[in-house]
Amino acid sequence: MRISKAVIPAAGRGSRLYPATKSQAKEMLPLGTKPVIQHVVEELAEAGVRQILIITGRLKRAIEDHFDADPRWLEELSNGEFDGHLWHSGVEIFYTRQSHPLGLGDAISRARAFCGCDPFVVALGDSIIANRAPQEGRGVMTRLVETFEQNDAAAAVATYQVTAADTKRYGILAPAGEVKGTEAFALKDIVEKPGPEKAPSRWAVAARYVLCPEVFDEIDAGRESVGPGEEVQLTAAIRGLIGRGPVYGVPLDADEFRLDVGDFATYGRSFARMMAADPRHGKGFVEYLRHLMGYMDGMEADPDAWAAEE
Ligand code: G1P
Repeated sequence: MRISKAVIPAAGRGSRLYPATKSQAKEMLPLGTKPVIQHVVEELAEAGVRQILIITGRLKRAIEDHFDADPRWLEELSNGEFDGHLWHSGVEIFYTRQSHPLGLGDAISRARAFCGCDPFVVALGDSIIANRAPQEGRGVMTRLVETFEQNDAAAAVATYQVTAADTKRYGILAPAGEVKGTEAFALKDIVEKPGPEKAPSRWAVAARYVLCPEVFDEIDAGRESVGPGEEVQLTAAIRGLIGRGPVYGVPLDADEFRLDVGDFATYGRSFARMMAADPRHGKGFVEYLRHLMGYMDGMEADPDAWAAEE
C-alpha cells in the first residue's frame, strides 16, 4: 500500500453518551476487551498504514496514555495472555489537538502539516468496520486505497446502505449512475445528514475515507460559508473535491458491517457483538445473555442468582 499515513479524528465531545463520557474520551470505551480506538489502530496497521496522527482535544489524554503502554508491563498484568501484536507492528503514532469543537472538517485540517502533499486515510475514532469472515487482505480499507489509486481519484469514501429514517444521521452519497452490487461507484454529490425527504440515496458514509491533500484547501474554502463558531463539515469539502477529480463510493461487502459508539443504542450493540466474538470471554458472555433473556421472558431464574449458585 503506497498510502502510508492515516488521521484518526477523536476530538468530538461525545455528548450523546453523557454522563458516561462527561470526563473521558468516548474513543476509550471498550468494545469487547479493547478500547474502540485500539480496534481502529489495528485495522489501519493491518491495511499497511505506518504513521497515524490522532486528533485529540479536551478530556482525551487517556488515549495517549493507552498507546504509551509498555508491552512488557501489560504482559505481566495479563499473565502473559496479552496480545501485544499492535505494539510490534511498527506503527508510529502522533498527536495533535483540536482545541474547540468546530466540526469534523476543522479537526481534519489540523493534519495538514502531517500529510504534506500525500493522500491519506481518515478513520473515525468512534467506529469500527467489523467482519463476519476473514478478509484475507481485501478489507474495505484496502479496497478504498485501490479505488483511489486506480482511478486517480480525488477521494474514495466507504459506504453502506441505511434505512430512510437513518439518512438524518449520516453523510449521504448521490451516485452518478446505477450502482452494481458492491462495486465502487462515482458520485455526483454528497450531502450531510439530509433526512428522508432530501436524501439522494440511502448510501451513507461509513467512517472511512481516502482523501487527496487538496481537501485542506476545500476545508478552508468551506470556512467562509459558515458563521463564527459553527461546525465546518468534511462532507462539504468532499463535495468541493468532486469538481477537481472523480470521487468514489466503495460499498462494504456482504461480510463487513459498521459498529460505532455514537450513542447508547449503538454502543450497547457494538459492545455485545465484540464481546460475544472474543475468543476468551465470548462463550461465557453469550451464555449469560441467554439466561438473562430467559429471565426477562419469565422463563428462567435471575442469572445473577444462577451465577452465585454455580
Ligand atoms: C460524521 C460525518 C458523517 C458520517 C458519520 C459517520 O458525523 O459528518 O458524514 O456519515 O460521521 O460516522 P458524526 O457522527 O460525527 O455526526
